[in-house]
Amino acid sequence: MTDHKVPIAGVIGNPIAHSRSPHLHGHWLRTYGIDGYYVPLHVQGQDLAEVFRALPKLGFKGVNVTLPHKERALELADRVSDRAALIGAANTITFQPDGTIHADNTDGYGFIENLRAGAEGWSPRTGPTVVLGAGGAARGVLSALLEAGAPEIRLANRTRVKAESLRNDFGPRVTVVDWHRVSDVLEDATTLVNTTSLGMEGQPELSISIDALPKDAVVTDIVYRPLITKLLGTAMARGNPIVDGLGMLLHQAAPGFERWFGLRPEITPELRAAALAE
Ligand code: ATR
Repeated sequence: MTDHKVPIAGVIGNPIAHSRSPHLHGHWLRTYGIDGYYVPLHVQGQDLAEVFRALPKLGFKGVNVTLPHKERALELADRVSDRAALIGAANTITFQPDGTIHADNTDGYGFIENLRAGAEGWSPRTGPTVVLGAGGAARGVLSALLEAGAPEIRLANRTRVKAESLRNDFGPRVTVVDWHRVSDVLEDATTLVNTTSLGMEGQPELSISIDALPKDAVVTDIVYRPLITKLLGTAMARGNPIVDGLGMLLHQAAPGFERWFGLRPEITPELRAAALAE
């Protein structure tokens, strides 16, 4: 293989125009004065295997993978991290010098690191966590919470059978709660997480009562447009510590950057601003 001196990485998705990843990695490349590139790549599903074969030949060290390619990217990899296998999807691909493809998933890591950085003293070990939603994002959140020692996760999803399927995959520390009964299981919760798309710009609002939630429970939302969702606004108004979802995006990006460009980047207020810039 040709030895390319200037490292290149990127993000593969469809659509890709609105991805924040080029803003994040571009900010880090500039900040650290690294001679490298990070580019958005619009790829159709049927082309993904061919693209994975071609990119290393063009000097790519790796890529992030976003919707709708995260599951297929995992299948195409030669080696898969334990957490990516558990989640069933990949978001960070590294093209190894020996020609093999390594797949990882850093979404759950980003979720946990965001909470650790944003809520002082937070630990998932201190009590039950209530998780709303059972889609792809919920899988990342569940795997990270369980790995970090969460004793109990109460999982509620509109389509109950999807929550039951996650419980089967993730084991008995996950209990399924009916979507319409979620307000009844908040009483002793120490963390509340929204992983649904409800509350996102252009989507319906999330309408659950959090009146029963202890005032010291940490509330977080993976939705970051708007930054303060209705859930976070309500929680903040009653005094709960809140952590917005943008930080998860920032933290999940760091391990890929380190692998491709050789330096562990910092999560700073300037990075947040770069992520929000148009
Ligand atoms: P992601 O990969 O971002 O998690 P997803 O897999 O499409 O996206 O999951 C979206 C989540 O939002 C699901 O939990 C979905 O609930 P269903 O499994 O019942 O579809 C939830 N969601 C989306 N719209 C919803 C709505 N109007 N009411 C309740 N939940 C909703």
